[in-house]
Amino acid sequence: MKLLVTGGAGFIGSNFVHYMLREHPEDTIINVDSLTYAGNLENLHAAAQQPNYQFARIDITDRSALRSIFEQGIEVVVNFAAESHVDRSILEPDVFVRTNVLGTQTLLDLSKEFGIEKFVQVSTDEVYGTLGDTGLFTELTPLAANSPYSASKAGADLLVRAYHETFGLPVNITRCSNNYGPYQFPEKLIPLMIQNALAGQSLPVYGDGLNVRDWLYVEDHCSAIDLVIRKGENGEVYNIGGNNERNNLQVVRTILKELNKPESLIAFVKDRPGHDRRYAIDATKIREQLGWLPKYNYETGIVETIRWYLSNHEWMERVKSGSYIKYYEKQYGEH
Ligand code: NAD
Ligand code: DAU
Repeated sequence: MKLLVTGGAGFIGSNFVHYMLREHPEDTIINVDSLTYAGNLENLHAAAQQPNYQFARIDITDRSALRSIFEQGIEVVVNFAAESHVDRSILEPDVFVRTNVLGTQTLLDLSKEFGIEKFVQVSTDEVYGTLGDTGLFTELTPLAANSPYSASKAGADLLVRAYHETFGLPVNITRCSNNYGPYQFPEKLIPLMIQNALAGQSLPVYGDGLNVRDWLYVEDHCSAIDLVIRKGENGEVYNIGGNNERNNLQVVRTILKELNKPESLIAFVKDRPGHDRRYAIDATKIREQLGWLPKYNYETGIVETIRWYLSNHEWMERVKSGSYIKYYEKQYGEH
């Protein structure tokens, strides 16, 4: 199988490339990524040695550059490429609409023109909006995006659906909860808190710290997408999540405990505007219909992840030396 993976130099995309090269050495992967601040080829060092892996620096809104990739005989498209950070979408929404909506539509158009066999849109539980204290998101929960990021992802999901309904494109949409694991950019909660704790800096917790996320180890997300590629019924949406609800304070306290740092580093800061209170996924459909089973337990997965960042300290330092610093100062002020 020849796969086009977009956004493969980011957090989940690079983990997916490693997963696929290991699990399906017979497949060929072409990774297309424009290498924004979040794209890092260092994540793919091992993959770059494999003969069945290629990389091309292309923006997913660049139709003519993408065409040259489709001309190589792509069978499956897995679209990870996106602007992915909610806080940045509040500061600068434009690029979210450009990449997440227009980029997805460009890929859909080419997929239709070249008659690909499967288009998998890697979406998010955030398109469903927020939950109260009880209940879970199912695939039938109405879309109610609350941030410019999630609105742009919801827009992309509707385009994917429309290309199935209107043109018969063989598509699936996956909607996963929060991922954690190696190679996550340190603007996101877990790597940000790890790196601040290590540096002895304060840990900026938004609002009361009681917002809840449903955490899944990134490799379990990758195995779910792999199953959807092979067994997903065309036109269907699959929710992905591991039933690991934790509030932000619980996550932060685990990090501090594991790094042997004091809780006095926690600083409650101004809340994120439109901050979704709780996400929680009902993954019954993908479990029962496709036989997906997550392998990682949150308690051990989070400790392994903290250790990964500890032993890959230099990776973090190199990532931080880029444009991240400017963004950090804009978001949290000088420190
Ligand atoms: P990320 O920000 O780490 O990576 C995004 C990648 O896309 C980067 O390599 C970046 O260079 C690339 N990219 C951005 N704009 C591009 C463009 N115009 N053309 C080509 N490449 C471009 O994001 P992530 O956390 O790995 O998320 C990957 C996907 O999974 C996203 O679509 C996101 O919405 C979705 N998702 C993420 C999570 C999560 O917890 N991180 C959960 C569910 C779904
Ligand atoms: O649910 C899936 C989504 O998870 C993905 O679609 C997004 O791409 C991904 O970024 C993530 O979004 P969140 O907004 O949930 O993740 P983030 O790591 O930004 O924040 C997690 C929680 O931690 C959220 O309640 C906000 C809070 N937070 C975050 C940061 C960066 C803080 O309290 N302080 C912080 O500094």
